[in-house]
Amino acid sequence: MHVHRFERIWLVGSLLLIALFVATVTYGAVGAGYGMVDAEGGQVDGTDPTASENVREPGVYNGSEDGHYDVYVETQRFLFVPGTNEPIRVPANSTVTFHVTSRDVLHGFEIVGTNINTMTVPGQKAMVTAEFDEPAEYGIVCNEYCGSGHHTMEGSLQVVP
Ligand code: CUA
Repeated sequence: MHVHRFERIWLVGSLLLIALFVATVTYGAVGAGYGMVDAEGGQVDGTDPTASENVREPGVYNGSEDGHYDVYVETQRFLFVPGTNEPIRVPANSTVTFHVTSRDVLHGFEIVGTNINTMTVPGQKAMVTAEFDEPAEYGIVCNEYCGSGHHTMEGSLQVVP
């Protein structure tokens, strides 16, 4: 059977694209995505994060140095604890490390107007550190679809003088 030269080129090209696509998806599933979260925060109990050694009760804690705070946030359908029912409060001129976990499904933790934006994966702890120099109020939103109340899942962060 004779296959035209151009036909062969397109055939090989499309097969290469399929192979590349499968490789990309595989890499995303086993490599980059989970590794990033795992490397920073470590693993936690998937349904009761506070039962884990590296997770404290939700709230704001004084950190290791002056002006450093650790904030433990738990995400759940459809709340940030703290954040939704009461704002997270930290002083201005502080460095804040957020330790964010989930006790049910995949959620997001984005502090609007900053570059803080992470997934919260059940069984994993996400850690992000940021500096807050000026008093301000920020919204917090969930940007991973997590169920019927996803669009209502929001909270706030107050940086107080
Ligand atoms: Cu939580 Cu969407």
